[in-house]
Amino acid sequence: MQISMRLYKTFLKGGIPEYLARYYWWAYLWDKSIWFFDHQPIINAILFGQYDTLLRNTLARVETRPGARLLQLTCVYGKLTPSLLHHAGNEVHLCDVAAEQLRLARGKATDVADRCHLARMNAEALGYANDAFDQVVVFFLFHELPPQARQHVYDEVARVVRPGGSVLVTEYAETPHHHWLYKIAPFRWVIGRLEPFLPGFWRENVTEKLGAALATFAKSLSAEPQVEYCFSRFYRVMRFDVHGDRQAEPEDLKKAANTTATSVLMQHDGGPLGTATFHRASRRCLTSKKFLA
Ligand SMILES: C[S@@+](CC[C@H](N)C(=O)[O-])C[C@H]1O[C@@H](n2cnc3c(N)ncnc32)[C@H](O)[C@@H]1O
Repeated sequence: MQISMRLYKTFLKGGIPEYLARYYWWAYLWDKSIWFFDHQPIINAILFGQYDTLLRNTLARVETRPGARLLQLTCVYGKLTPSLLHHAGNEVHLCDVAAEQLRLARGKATDVADRCHLARMNAEALGYANDAFDQVVVFFLFHELPPQARQHVYDEVARVVRPGGSVLVTEYAETPHHHWLYKIAPFRWVIGRLEPFLPGFWRENVTEKLGAALATFAKSLSAEPQVEYCFSRFYRVMRFDVHGDRQAEPEDLKKAANTTATSVLMQHDGGPLGTATFHRASRRCLTSKKFLA
């Protein structure tokens, strides 16, 4: 028990957040599990057979305007990254804090490597400029974050999406009280152990959270989000359109300045490696580091 409790600490290096190592080392950081999980039947089984539906519904809301710049916020198992690249036909930036996950993603996009820019960074403190993206795609990330990290990620998404752009979130829906799966007590027990932050996310109002974060940057939601539920409201795909609605108030600007990272983006354009110098006041820093050999 002691050993398993300490095991996660071996994954705590290179800026990996504590919660990621502690609760998800077995899913995203251990090389054997990375190999295991990145098989389509496994991913599909984890999503109760809904993978293709979720991918299709996500792609249907992807920004395809010529020249649009997309950010996929963190890596995912399966075919989302190559699908985004082929479907959008534009630049896709992809960041993750785990080098192995980036390496895996890179292997899936070799045919379009010139349009796929990889960066190793913490989603809570991104190195991208304000208003850098036309669309930010967040696929099953929020429910894996503890509340404070989740708040930081809402803030960062709000900061890097440009007015006129959009945020695309594919996630669990609200607490599925009436779903047959949720009514099975052992299921609730198991999912609560495997996904310790999911119950909190189930109760969260994503629209309110994102709206409040956008307001900090003098942006707002231009309408109610487009929401598509699937698997009897167990999952949902949400597209939030964003606009810049007013001149920023001095107070907003001060707040935004306090939460904005000063950084150099670590990129991979098919070249061999990237480095990052990363500073963000009062948040974790990733120091300059080589990670792709
Ligand atoms: C997108 S989430 C969940 C993906 C989903 N379960 C799947 O694979 O379909 C998993 C990824 O998020 C990354 N991640 C988690 N917290 C992060 C953070 N704060 N910053 C950057 N990446 C993070 C992990 O390294 C992992 O690659």
